[in-house]
Amino acid sequence: MPATILIVDDEAANRELLEEVLMNRGYTVLAAKDGLEALETFAIHRPDVVLLDVMMPHLGGIQVCKQLKQNAETRLTPVVLVTALSALDDRVRGLEAGADDFLTKPIDRSELLTRVRALLSLKAFTDDLDNIESVLFTLARSIEGKDSYTGGHCDRLSDYSERLGRRIGLREEEIKALRQGGIVHDVGKVAVPDAILLKPGKLTPDEWKVMREHPVTGERICAPMRLFRPVLPIIRHHHEKLDGSGYPDGLKGAEIPLLARIMTLADVYDAVTTDRPYHTALPAGEALEMMERDVQRGWWDRELFAEFKSIMSVKGRIDS
Ligand SMILES: [Fe+2]
Repeated sequence: MPATILIVDDEAANRELLEEVLMNRGYTVLAAKDGLEALETFAIHRPDVVLLDVMMPHLGGIQVCKQLKQNAETRLTPVVLVTALSALDDRVRGLEAGADDFLTKPIDRSELLTRVRALLSLKAFTDDLDNIESVLFTLARSIEGKDSYTGGHCDRLSDYSERLGRRIGLREEEIKALRQGGIVHDVGKVAVPDAILLKPGKLTPDEWKVMREHPVTGERICAPMRLFRPVLPIIRHHHEKLDGSGYPDGLKGAEIPLLARIMTLADVYDAVTTDRPYHTALPAGEALEMMERDVQRGWWDRELFAEFKSIMSVKGRIDS
């Protein structure tokens, strides 16, 4: 299937020129005359590359670019901003808005085609990465979906752990790993039979043994994917306890990777504040008191918990 290029320019002559060059090369071309129309056309047709004029009525190119780049579903589509030669300011603002490339007016045909080709191969590559991620996320969510009690658990974990990560000043890559970890941390439960996973009563020792394998299974599922490498320690170690009584490796204290310690707090908090087959939900305040006792017992990281508590206490007050 030929690649689809969306041309956005308020001047018909400019649109027609670009259209002609690209259609001659076999691309499918869509056109929009302003930013609003561009977003509508984008939503319907999902083009592979967007060529955006900067100066347009209604919604300018920089704003359109920003909107596309801020949305997780559209951020990987390459955007080229078309600027006037003298408009250095536009380039700076374009970079800030996340533009992938720039073309200068008047547009040189061969430069246009070279850029479009390069961006299309980048798009093909990121589509592959996106597909891997979405397959894994779908798998993780289907496991969450098996259990009506845990609806929304993955998203809440991503949210709680991201907030704690930001609070303690982690880098963007670490925040990203936490967000992904929130979704896929329990993906290894795919190997746990439903009779155990959904059992309403207490698990027998043998059943526990099977259940406790899920972090290692999850790590094994994600390990071949380079993209998920930073998430592996979260998946493997999200059930460790500081005193070494957790699983699968019985790690102690700082041996437990920081991101896993964060995910554990988020996971425990969410488990006690939502209804489960074996208990009813505790209000935020009581859940935090219970976790405080577990900190005294030597299970959770004291300093991290103090930060977590201050984030959740504020939220709890607003919620109640
Ligand atoms: Fe787990």
